[in-house]
Amino acid sequence: MSLSNRQLEAYWLPFTANRDFKKKPRVITGASGHYYTTSDGRRVYDAFSGLWTSGLGHCHPKIVEAVQAQVARMDYCMGFQATSDKAIELAGSLVEMAPDGFNHCFFTNSGSEAVDTALKISLGYHRTRSEGHRTRLIGRERGYHGVNFGGISVGGMAPNRKAFSANLIPGVDHLPHTHDPEHNAFSRGQPEHGAHLAEELERLAALHDGGNIAAVIVEPVAGSTGILPPPVGYLEKLREICDRHGILLVFDEVITAFGRIGAPFGADRFGVMPDIITTAKGLTNGVIPMGAVLVRDEIYDAFMQGPEHMIELFHGYTYSGHPVAAAAGIAALQVYGDEGIFEQALALEGHFADALHSLADHEHVIDVRNFGLMGAVEMAPRPGAPGARGIEAHKRCFWDEDLVVRNGMDTLQFSPFLNSKPGDITKTFETVRRVIDTLD
Ligand SMILES: Cc1ncc(COP(=O)(O)O)c(C=O)c1O
Repeated sequence: MSLSNRQLEAYWLPFTANRDFKKKPRVITGASGHYYTTSDGRRVYDAFSGLWTSGLGHCHPKIVEAVQAQVARMDYCMGFQATSDKAIELAGSLVEMAPDGFNHCFFTNSGSEAVDTALKISLGYHRTRSEGHRTRLIGRERGYHGVNFGGISVGGMAPNRKAFSANLIPGVDHLPHTHDPEHNAFSRGQPEHGAHLAEELERLAALHDGGNIAAVIVEPVAGSTGILPPPVGYLEKLREICDRHGILLVFDEVITAFGRIGAPFGADRFGVMPDIITTAKGLTNGVIPMGAVLVRDEIYDAFMQGPEHMIELFHGYTYSGHPVAAAAGIAALQVYGDEGIFEQALALEGHFADALHSLADHEHVIDVRNFGLMGAVEMAPRPGAPGARGIEAHKRCFWDEDLVVRNGMDTLQFSPFLNSKPGDITKTFETVRRVIDTLD
């Protein structure tokens, strides 16, 4: 089926330069395993595994089968005051996989909704304990927590905030970001320098009184800003300061959960336990939109008071716990375990880091960063045209090299499949070098 210009014009693409895109649209019509098929019939390797979503590869047969069976059996059922068997089953599987003490989860439809849900749960939790004066929320510069008003308020990506700066939620502060090229450029894995930046939380606690702060939210490894792994000791220090002041620590694991950094959750990998974990993406392997907020027992228990016929948390989405999404989630979690995916991802890390860092000597490259199977190659901006090199690299990869890579401005980002073939990773970076060679 060919698409008309009217149809193309009708579609307002998210996070995309629409006018430029529509001159020569990159349209994908099929996906299988590690490849996409494009509208002009090419087979293209997906070096971003969806949008950090599809670590198991596209159209995994077990997930496809589960979704097909579920949609034929029950397409939807109300999620308030009744629920599906699948939502309950997925909740059980998810808390089984979660770190000890995380025995409850709340379903959403996206990472953005998971973040806003986590912020509301944090505020509500303190109210239930007669600490309703804890209203302040702390995010971090360069953090990405989705696009809802809560998420952009605690988030720290300037372009996502600037048009809404007068309307962001009040009572939010930001920790400094941890990007320090002077000391940490070309670090492999966690940079050595920067744990002290967590101490800014102590400063904010002194300024506002720690007793007024509800929660701190960070990505264990900042993803969308171009991969900023936490400096050695940084997350531990945040945990310590949160404990000292009774502040909840929220890990936004929308990217880092489900094997992306070689463990079920980033919390497991770093050995630092937050109080709340947000997830999405890998929860269903990207097959059906879904997110989840996992909370420690004491948070759930704090809400479970008052008359039993009354709603404890006035929050939820029509599609919370959607049965078809839940079926996809159950199947995805099963596959992670059955196929030893987290172990595979962990074993691939070294090869991925070698291949990624092989670009470090390129004249355009000013930094390379990685953790787990998350990688970034930052190029110097072309004078007077920041972002131009990045998008040119993306387009040349797509059109000339049959390769999908993502760019955020001049930083190329990589999110290989958790079950990638090492040879494909090698080839990806040989291709990227060839493409960067062509850029002026
Ligand atoms: C850490 C983090 N939080 C939240 C989100 C938002 O998720 P969604 O796009 O599903 O709303 C993302 C998306 O990339 C993310 O990386």
